Amino acid sequence: MTAEPVYDETLVPAHTLPDPLAPFPDGSIITAAGWRNVRRREIRNLFAEHVYGRTPGEGPAVAFRIIESSRDALGGKAVRKQVQAVLRGNGQTRTLNLLVYIPAQRDGPVPSFTGLNFQGNQTIHPDPAIRVPGAQVDAAPRGSKADRWPLEAIVDRGFALVTLHCNDLFPDHPQGRAAGIAPLFPQDDVQTPDAWGAIGMWAWGLSRVLDYCAADPDLDATRVAVVGHSRLGKAALWAGAQDQRFALVISNNSGCGGAAISRRRFGETVAAINQGFPHWFCPRFHTYNDREDALPIDQHMLLALVAPRPLYVASAQDDLWADPRGEYLSAFHATPVYELLGHTGLTSEAMPPVNQPVGSRIGYHIRSGPHEITAYDWAQYLRFAAKHR
Ligand code: GCU
Repeated sequence: MTAEPVYDETLVPAHTLPDPLAPFPDGSIITAAGWRNVRRREIRNLFAEHVYGRTPGEGPAVAFRIIESSRDALGGKAVRKQVQAVLRGNGQTRTLNLLVYIPAQRDGPVPSFTGLNFQGNQTIHPDPAIRVPGAQVDAAPRGSKADRWPLEAIVDRGFALVTLHCNDLFPDHPQGRAAGIAPLFPQDDVQTPDAWGAIGMWAWGLSRVLDYCAADPDLDATRVAVVGHSRLGKAALWAGAQDQRFALVISNNSGCGGAAISRRRFGETVAAINQGFPHWFCPRFHTYNDREDALPIDQHMLLALVAPRPLYVASAQDDLWADPRGEYLSAFHATPVYELLGHTGLTSEAMPPVNQPVGSRIGYHIRSGPHEITAYDWAQYLRFAAKHR
């Protein structure tokens, strides 16, 4: 059993965060070029070895095919496309089901948001044409998560949306690996200390969405924002950290193993997350249960891997399990890397008041209310993405 969660700031243990810009072993300081050419890769490798597991270099062949499209979706506002990414590797096949909405009114390729959904494409909007692949009997109801996906608002602002169900990549339970994409990769050995888990595979899938964006002439692959809520926010961060083609990265209430500082042990801890979700991280991450101080990184360094690209981190006031203050401090402590690369980050160690977004290159807000992704959150992401468009 893991210990009771700590929700009292005075009980946060004293800790020292690793410095993303610590001098090189020969004593030389890190310049912008030193960050880009050396340190960035070192830190990314540390996250692969110790936290999320390594993303294999070789993977299945991917072929995209459009299986349905309409020029008359959302009452004429949008073009809808339903696309299969067919993956072949190790003699096996899997299909990722991408759902795409593109503004009907556009002058050229449009910027987009991409993110995974928790319960199936049909949940993101009541549109009856959204396909429900697989076993339809167990499928979550159409439109049941529409509050999380303000599709009309996204399209009205000139953005496309591309989403897929995270379970197409790794069904989200400890025995999910075999039914997901893992068997398509050479030598998938779950015992290896740096074997990737669900978060790694979800992130891999987000990069395949980017490949799709690059192949669709209606989409501008140089302007794709990756967004995710909670566990899927952890995946969005890891995707954005690894794949620098993502132009903008958004973490919504991603908490432990996402934006929040692990060493604070506030709310969900490393031990709690590994116990609750043993399939999310690599085996080595489990050796840091109750030993956060031994980690060679902390999560501010994951956010620093997004630099110099725009980054948005959002918390919710009642979402103490995700440690809102730890999420804010993480963005704050990523700031020196943004500054090294010529941008301002967050300048105050003090959190902003509730419902008062701050920041320009690094955006942050803490919303009133619970663990959720809401219209308020999306309004901030749309504003932030439009500013950086
Ligand atoms: C659990 C888990 C979190 C996760 C959340 C979610 O609460 O402990 O780490 O972010 O589920 O995905 O909603």
